[in-house]
Amino acid sequence: MNEAESSRRVKTDEPEPIESASRDEIAALQLDRMRWSLQHAYDNVPHYRRAFDARGLHPRDLRELGDLSLFPFTSKSDLRDNYPYGMFALPRSQVARIHASSGTTGQPTVVGYSSRDIDNWAKLVARSLRAAGVRSADRVHVAYGYGLFTGGLGAHYGAERLGCTVIPVSGGMTARQVQLIRDFQPDAIMVTPSYLLTIADAMESAGFDPADTSLRVGVLGAEPWTDEMRTQLEARLGLDAVDIYGLSEVMGPGVAQECVETKDGLHIWEDHFYPEIIDPQTLEVLPDGEEGELVFTSLTNEVMPVVRYRTRDLTRLLPGTARSMRRMSKVTGRSDDMIILRGVNLFPTQIEELILSTPGLTAQFQCVLHRPQHLDELTVMVEAKPQLAGEDRRTAQDRLCHVIKERIGVSVSVKVLPPASLERSAGKARRLVDSRERD
Ligand code: DLL
Repeated sequence: MNEAESSRRVKTDEPEPIESASRDEIAALQLDRMRWSLQHAYDNVPHYRRAFDARGLHPRDLRELGDLSLFPFTSKSDLRDNYPYGMFALPRSQVARIHASSGTTGQPTVVGYSSRDIDNWAKLVARSLRAAGVRSADRVHVAYGYGLFTGGLGAHYGAERLGCTVIPVSGGMTARQVQLIRDFQPDAIMVTPSYLLTIADAMESAGFDPADTSLRVGVLGAEPWTDEMRTQLEARLGLDAVDIYGLSEVMGPGVAQECVETKDGLHIWEDHFYPEIIDPQTLEVLPDGEEGELVFTSLTNEVMPVVRYRTRDLTRLLPGTARSMRRMSKVTGRSDDMIILRGVNLFPTQIEELILSTPGLTAQFQCVLHRPQHLDELTVMVEAKPQLAGEDRRTAQDRLCHVIKERIGVSVSVKVLPPASLERSAGKARRLVDSRERD
């Protein structure tokens, strides 16, 4: 990448030329950048040098893109083992910013950025916002959390780069979110889909129609969500709801983005990240179109190059449509969130889909796993719509139970709860609660 490219302000509503480049052009750029990235990781990160050497490999062994499959995977535990700065490829003086992922247990994982990394990130989030239908003259309400989480600052720099007016609200204080949306009249909101639902509920409780706001676009991500959820959010809020994907280990939000004109999965910004799909058991690379675990190799990261990072996210790769870069389908879930119930694998997103097709139920739900008598059982706790009376709640409960059994092939218990019974999160929703240890 040359100096001029990285320092140019994007601030335009036109897509970048690379977004419509031919597959050959994209592949040539990827190969160049991948060679650089592998060499950079090998030269500057002892972990990669050891891992490549252990396989008798040198970055020179990458002659074509497919040769990447010879190289070792990187997992979250490698990042943890090198906590905090062991995976950094540049000296401290060149690290402009640090983020970290919360990590539900144990050590967080730390990521670092040079000023050029931050510049690329801003450019890619600006590109994502443009694809989402946000324009440079728009006001953008950012309700992703600001802090070590990459959501808030990542969204902020991207919206600013596009030329928008940024409203940096961060997550939480739902009543204030509602007030600020009414007063400041934003055109777009960047938030998790589950928290947008909570904001919409709060608008209704405050006595006004969520469809009456100034919001035109919702750029929603950081957690799995379904097309059924999209339909519901779009109808309730009168906006276009599009998917944004990313993870801190690879950059943050803006690794892939859905286009508003097609809403058919997320274009991966392949000029900066090389995707592979692997079978999580055999670790073999799968052909495009097959579902498996998404793996990323960064192509331009300076401080934290990642080689074949295993995301644990399950999806598949699809050909480009609105852009020439390949798409990933909406993430089904993380392999860590897969529930195995009497031999049947299922994900909270499958439950979400069925809940939203059951009249009278809302998308506020939680899957609780327990083990009363040496056998795992699943209870789906879901809130009813306010107008749903006692008898109708029982009907909805039976209907959902039945449809889960019919469509997923496993018996679960369903509890339909009054509105506002379940905990709310101002960020990522907790869809799976594992109570098996406590039973
Ligand atoms: O969640 C970055 C982000 C912020 C993405 C804001 C989009 C918007 P982490 O906290 O490191 O980073 O979590 C990354 O979240 O591996 C997925 O499991 C999940 N995830 C992120 N985006 C999506 C999405 C941010 N659009 C992890 N659909 C990832 C499904 C998503 N899952």
